[in-house]
Amino acid sequence: MPKHRLAPVGELKDGEIRPFTLDGRYILLVQGESGPAVIDGICPHAGGDLGKGSVSGQRIRCPTHKYMFDLETGSCPLGRREGWGPVAVHKLEEIDGYIYVDI
Ligand code: FES
Repeated sequence: MPKHRLAPVGELKDGEIRPFTLDGRYILLVQGESGPAVIDGICPHAGGDLGKGSVSGQRIRCPTHKYMFDLETGSCPLGRREGWGPVAVHKLEEIDGYIYVDI
């Protein structure tokens, strides 16, 4: 799988959400309180755009129905019903001062 360079390490501000489309896949680079994370940008509940959501601590909130997803596990702490996640979380790497992801 090709690695994609997303941004310099340390460039994102706390709570920033930066969208990318890589090989046709919509993903987000998100700066949570524990560091950067890369997740899919489409909410697993009903297709909301997480790129228009907001970040609180280590979670991202969907703007459509306000479900929150953990940036490390992708899980929704609200429940275990179908459609409540997880959202896909992608492994990122820091190489030579840049954040990379395999998609
Ligand atoms: S579409 Fe995201 S919470 Fe419903």
